[in-house]
Amino acid sequence: MPPAILVIDQGTTSTRAIVFGPDALPVATAQEEFPQFYPYPGWVEHDPKDLWRTTLSTARIALAKATDQGLTIAALGITNQRETVVIWDRKTGAPIHNAIVWQDRRTAQACADLKQDGAEALVQKTSGLLLDPYFSATKIAWLLDHVSGARARAERGELAFGTVDSYLLWQFTNGKVHATDATNASRTALFDIHSGQWDTDLLALFGVPAAMLPEVRDCAAEFGTAAASHLGEALPIRGIAGDQQAALIGQACFDPGMVKSTFGTGAFVLLNTGTSPVASTHRLLTTVAYQLKGRRHYAIEGSIFAAGATVQWLRDGLGIVRSSAETGQLAAQSDPDQHVYLVPAFVGLGAPIWDADARGTIVGITRGTTRREIARAALESVAYQTLDLVEAMRADFNAGDGAAAVIRADGGMSASDWTMQSVADMIDAPVDRPVVLETTALGAGYLAGLQSGLYPEPEIFAKAWHCDKRFTPGMDAATRHAKVTGWRAAIARTVLKP
Ligand code: G3P
Repeated sequence: MPPAILVIDQGTTSTRAIVFGPDALPVATAQEEFPQFYPYPGWVEHDPKDLWRTTLSTARIALAKATDQGLTIAALGITNQRETVVIWDRKTGAPIHNAIVWQDRRTAQACADLKQDGAEALVQKTSGLLLDPYFSATKIAWLLDHVSGARARAERGELAFGTVDSYLLWQFTNGKVHATDATNASRTALFDIHSGQWDTDLLALFGVPAAMLPEVRDCAAEFGTAAASHLGEALPIRGIAGDQQAALIGQACFDPGMVKSTFGTGAFVLLNTGTSPVASTHRLLTTVAYQLKGRRHYAIEGSIFAAGATVQWLRDGLGIVRSSAETGQLAAQSDPDQHVYLVPAFVGLGAPIWDADARGTIVGITRGTTRREIARAALESVAYQTLDLVEAMRADFNAGDGAAAVIRADGGMSASDWTMQSVADMIDAPVDRPVVLETTALGAGYLAGLQSGLYPEPEIFAKAWHCDKRFTPGMDAATRHAKVTGWRAAIARTVLKP
């Protein structure tokens, strides 16, 4: 029976399982949403049991579909929402609390205090990240300080911390393996991205006991065996990467200067910088892109917190569109002479501004403004934010003309032709949408397939990447300049802190 790879893509709002065949094309999928918990404004939690339950249910469905097609699963790959924190009891496997999700802002004050104390330089230099509640470290400390007895238990080595990949790995292996990969480790703010080790100074800064940390491995590695009791057969787990890094791999952005952007609920732009980490002077993140055979490759990342979320708000919050697709149709009919800007700072602003307290704004409305102009402003906000990131990247990564010359796009919102054209116009560079849009799962599948000897080395795998549609920039420089100037003015009205 031909071999295939089963991938778990454990995301923020749903869990998906996808099987890739011998030619690395998706052949079976399953998806399930799970509850989101918002205990207080700005707090976001998941029940880890839901993450595990939906992992099993979707994996079983995808596996059955693949078996029906005569495929046999050679290995399992895992990709996941990053930064989200799970802490569990090593003996029972029971989580001590709900997972604190990457979007959760409860540690904003703790981050502000650390920043005030001048700690950001150490965080940036060692981990490549910034002091923001987005990352795992302050979330771990919050749990240790708020769950009764947790800190003492963690110090005694009774508790384990993991990002979601690590928690699923523990579950799959029935507690035999407590490990993660270098990409997920690089999102915790506890990891020295230069040495590839947990960093004692950062552990001390955030108050996280070393005893609770997972072992860090390559992205393509032997992570242990998923016990037969879970999926009906014992399966080796051979690939792990955080979802945005997995998308970079799935988009075959292996060469320095190559960029991908995943337009989902948020948008995450990653630029491959090769085997040298590039320190950003424009408040972008330096992160591990992937680690293969002990060798780390790095990326600069810009994270936007609201992309598709803005369209969801038009649909579910304002009720001015019935479907996401309608937004593009409305934008296409909008009045070009109206200069309406929507700054979607629903949960603050991410890169390159990083203002957790900023809140959204719509500027430029007149009595003549209709839902068409609001729809256009919502979609254009994705393009403007992408421009802000790409400009910062081009400035950080001084690689001549090659850097970010083209963006490879994926994610749900990349289905919107109107938005992709707007991104191309704004960044003044082509946007390529690939044939295989399952790039996140493909990246994790590639890692597991590489480790299994099923898929070839990166240079060969990259040749199988095909563009489905290229969006070529078509806006004249004067129009672009005027529009971008208006966007920057709108941002200035949104940001509360200087
Ligand atoms: O950093 C957060 C990111 O990994 C979440 O991705 O696709 O689950 O929204 P997604």
